[in-house]
Amino acid sequence: MGQITFIEHNGAAHVVEIAAGQTLMQTAVDNGIPGIDADCGGACACGTCHVIVDNDWIQATGNINADEQGMLGLTPERADTSRLSCQITVSEALDGLIVRLPEFQM
Ligand code: FES
Repeated sequence: MGQITFIEHNGAAHVVEIAAGQTLMQTAVDNGIPGIDADCGGACACGTCHVIVDNDWIQATGNINADEQGMLGLTPERADTSRLSCQITVSEALDGLIVRLPEFQM
């Protein structure tokens, strides 16, 4: 159990339940979060699942590998705490996680 909050660029917040073992991208899609397109289905090949992780949570989301780093490099709205949500596996350790959505996905 646990919850994750997605905050749209316009400030609208969506609180969803954690489904441990899923990716953050799948969690967003399953809960109809607007602004997560996930065009490649989680293959780290599109960049349309970009989220900006709250500063307090960036360590807990794990490391960025070279493929993700490369895709993030193509993301116009990249921030210091940007991640691709398909590369984050959710667990109860992420209870309370807050992520923000960029204004646009590329
Ligand atoms: S779903 Fe395509 S990079 Fe994440």
